[in-house]
Amino acid sequence: MAVNHVPVMLEEAVSALAPSGADTMVDATFGGGGHARRILDELGPNGRLMGIDRDPDAENRASGIRDERFSFRSGAYDEILWKMVEEGELVDAILFDLGLSSYQVDEAARGFSYVREGPLDMRMDPNSGVSAADFLNTVEEGELARVLSERGDVPHKEARRVAREISRRRPLSTTLDLADAVRDALGWVERGGNPAKRVFQAVRVFVNDEVGSLQRGLEAAERLLAPGGRLVAITFHSGEDRAVKRFISSREGRCVCPPELPVCVCGARPVFRRGAVRSPSGREIEENPRSASARLRLAVRTSEPLEIEQDGS
Ligand SMILES: C[S@@+](CC[C@H](N)C(=O)[O-])C[C@H]1O[C@@H](n2cnc3c(N)ncnc32)[C@H](O)[C@@H]1O
Repeated sequence: MAVNHVPVMLEEAVSALAPSGADTMVDATFGGGGHARRILDELGPNGRLMGIDRDPDAENRASGIRDERFSFRSGAYDEILWKMVEEGELVDAILFDLGLSSYQVDEAARGFSYVREGPLDMRMDPNSGVSAADFLNTVEEGELARVLSERGDVPHKEARRVAREISRRRPLSTTLDLADAVRDALGWVERGGNPAKRVFQAVRVFVNDEVGSLQRGLEAAERLLAPGGRLVAITFHSGEDRAVKRFISSREGRCVCPPELPVCVCGARPVFRRGAVRSPSGREIEENPRSASARLRLAVRTSEPLEIEQDGS
């Protein structure tokens, strides 16, 4: 029962990506292709857009785009972007629109929904990695509590209660088994939203190694972008947003020389110039409540070469 995915911050993202003429663009999270189609509208006849997604269903959707400027690669974006680095490619813009598409959330059989019953899976690529059920049924209780608070911002005390209830109920096999465990651990206190939301987020982020993938993807992006190239990331929770913000800050090469020095001697070399940070408009949130937590960050690649020794790669 999949509904269409409404692309979040579409106009803001396309304006930040600034596709034009013969640019080479990458949509690292193709999903339903909402952003991709809009990018193609702006590109000239010699432009190119590559879509990437690790979800096999996204490949089927991508095959509906019949445009010779468009190509699609199925797989994890970090792996594909690093392959492009090894092949010596350079691109003009890269988009990361993180998280899940509505196709994934609304399809009960994928196991992402805390209100629809389905197998406890949550893998974006159901053919690789460990399912949520396998993880939850084997992880040590203390480690689970840590994952819940680090990846879902579940307060420590609540994370420990949920982890205890999950280990007491093992084995869990459906999404509602997990939602019920959360409800019994935390009760139905008026808390501004279903407490299962953060727990499901934490498990999903862990099972898909979303933060590690993002970190590796960003590190590939800084090597792939040509001078003036645009990096655009739309994030949906604080862990993701922190990772993008820290990455950009660490590449801004802020000069720490005393202000009285006429030239910089500290060796600060900005690899990225920070652009605007945007949130969805009130109107977009009203029309598409799933956009509410979105943050869009833009960074523009300078012409500085990378300090290869900096990260040992
Ligand atoms: C929010 S949706 C993108 C929606 C898309 N921008 C649109 O307009 O339809 C995120 C997509 O990224 C994919 N994805 C998330 N992490 C990924 C990764 N590490 N590698 C490849 N695809 C990933 C998901 O499978 C999902 O389809």
